[in-house]
Amino acid sequence: MQERKIADGVARIGAQDWNRRLFDSLIPLPDGTSYNAYLVRGSEKTALIDTADPTQSDVLMNQLADVETIDYLVANHAEQDHAGTIPEVLDRFPQAEVIATQKGRGMLVDLLCIPEDRVRAVEDGETLSLGDKTLEFVHTPWVHWPETMCTYLPEDRVLFSCDFFGSHYATTDLYAHDHAVVYEAAKRYYAEIMMPFRPAIRKNLEKVKARDVKLIAPSHGPVHDEPAFILDAYEDWVSETVKNEVVLPYISMHGSTERMVEHIVNALAERGVRVHLFDLAVTDLGKLAIALVDAATIVIGTPTVHVGPHPAVFYAAHLANALRPKLRYASIVGSYGWSSKAIERITELIPNLKVEVLDPVLCRGYPRDADFKALDALANAVADRHARL
Ligand code: FEO
Repeated sequence: MQERKIADGVARIGAQDWNRRLFDSLIPLPDGTSYNAYLVRGSEKTALIDTADPTQSDVLMNQLADVETIDYLVANHAEQDHAGTIPEVLDRFPQAEVIATQKGRGMLVDLLCIPEDRVRAVEDGETLSLGDKTLEFVHTPWVHWPETMCTYLPEDRVLFSCDFFGSHYATTDLYAHDHAVVYEAAKRYYAEIMMPFRPAIRKNLEKVKARDVKLIAPSHGPVHDEPAFILDAYEDWVSETVKNEVVLPYISMHGSTERMVEHIVNALAERGVRVHLFDLAVTDLGKLAIALVDAATIVIGTPTVHVGPHPAVFYAAHLANALRPKLRYASIVGSYGWSSKAIERITELIPNLKVEVLDPVLCRGYPRDADFKALDALANAVADRHARL
């Protein structure tokens, strides 16, 4: 891909990784991803902001083939999908100085074996002149790792935000004009890697909003030329507001749990509660993460396997616990053949969820009238709690 201008002297380069389907050997990428880098050419100096995943380094190095000089290589984030091509860029431009936060400097040295004397650490708010353009470094820890920062170009009002406001979305669109598609991709991205750090994200959002940003240029996904679209979305996601929604991940082996789940889904719907249902045997866990961003309640459905919950439920419960969504309530429904500690085991798996646990419903074998009544009571409890939100 050729350079694409986003402002005078500012171009997006980098790679669209159309076919990547998994990130960190964990996160599903239904729409691929991109690794955006940006060239900022001032009247005296040139800076490259972020690089690309090493699997796409040839794309970036080809784009840099005719670039005469790079004076500064800004590493907003040390993770390999943005920093992994720094060593090659430094070989090609031996005079280039890497710019990072103090923590980022340590990570670049440890993770990528970049010589310490090639990296300059910058303070929050520090600036660097490129001549007629200035780079301001804005520390934004935890947008994704503790060392992350954004870089602001005040003359053109461009914020280079790296993972912050990004989306795993390979596209030929330079700008995020397809709001429906970008909203879901950006929400997936937030849910999977930033939701656990919600208080920090909220503070960083305020820092960004204090600047008069015209373009938000992330290092994944298209550029935001309507910043309010993504800023408002983040404002909603990091707020304390929860919605009248239940996330219901479940699995069933012989149909008992599935029958219970069907019953409670209908009972909740009848009471005006929206349910996001996920059969963990076939679910894209990214979709589950997205649903957890807003929901007030999680109900987990599991059969009993060797006294505990099904292993797929272990995984989903661990994931929900790690993502620290702003849930208020939780419950469990499920079944067993002869004995079960599924409720105790699941409760132990979710200590990070500061939730009120509503009475679980566990039945032996196939559910009967008393079990359906208990499920109706649980649906009543959920609807009552949600009505008070
Ligand atoms: Fe896109 Fe945290 O790296």
